[in-house]
Amino acid sequence: MTAKSHRNDGRLKIAIQKSGRLSEKSFALLEKAGISLQKSKDQLLCRARNFPLDIFLVRDDDIPAFLTNQVCQLGIIGQNTLLETQLLEAETYGGLSQVIELGFGRCRLSIAVPNDMPYDGLDSLAGRTIATSYRGLLAAFLAERGVEANIVTMEGAVEVAPRTHLADAICDLVSTGNTLISNGLAEQDIILQSQAVIIQNNDMQDDLRSLCETILVRINAVLRAERSRYIMLNSPVSVLDEIKAVLPGSQSPTVMPLQGNDDMVAVHAVCDEEVFWSTMEALKDRGASSILVVPIEKMLD
Ligand code: PRP
Ligand code: ZN
Repeated sequence: MTAKSHRNDGRLKIAIQKSGRLSEKSFALLEKAGISLQKSKDQLLCRARNFPLDIFLVRDDDIPAFLTNQVCQLGIIGQNTLLETQLLEAETYGGLSQVIELGFGRCRLSIAVPNDMPYDGLDSLAGRTIATSYRGLLAAFLAERGVEANIVTMEGAVEVAPRTHLADAICDLVSTGNTLISNGLAEQDIILQSQAVIIQNNDMQDDLRSLCETILVRINAVLRAERSRYIMLNSPVSVLDEIKAVLPGSQSPTVMPLQGNDDMVAVHAVCDEEVFWSTMEALKDRGASSILVVPIEKMLD
């Protein structure tokens, strides 16, 4: 990085994964937060049309460095990558903090062994060789449990290591589990549960800090709207309290009169959680009718 890249042009910079498992959802999230992105031929930079914001498209392993070097203020990254980077270089990356858990890109970092290898807990790994791209996380996990094993670092295709006799076991990301199955490996111990997070460099200039606040408030609102539902129903006045008690995660529903029907009211509520069929059935059983559950597009308190 040159000193030039430290120049503050008043635009907030976010680093996201160029391609791969987080890329598409990271873009979609920013768009849902009202950021209109200008498609360009530039492979590295993407400018927002309607907000002072630029997006840097980089390799996920490089995202922490883009933040610590003040090129970007925010990043979207898997917790696995962030924690590994911080373990390997605590001094450089310790100042990065996770500010929002995004709920996508869920995966786990696990130890897996060949199906035919007898496995009786972590002690079975003593003196064995484990291949991984996550040396930091694996070494910390083993050290904490007093297991001494050799670690061989691989950049990718870790799952083939046992077949090629490079290692006895592996420690790799598991999402669907298909990679393990098709390579004859059995998942044994989970080292870390991971998902995509927004990270921030805590050391930031004031003008950018306020842009950053705006964008984070919007993203929190998007996430909340995504998991919330708006529920509308008609209820007999006599069972209103029972109905309210069944509404999932809603504090104070709006109750309105229904014209020409004094015994009934309309109830509208924002539910902070999923509304299941069983909940709707419970509402109906208590006397509710015309039950409508709709998604919420935007929400700001
Ligand atoms: C990860 C991991 C496995 C695969 C697991 O690789 O290394 O290969 O995903 O996913 P599954 O359980 O759904 O099969 P990734 O796709 O991130 O690419 P990489 O191997 O190049 O890191
Ligand atoms: Zn892989």
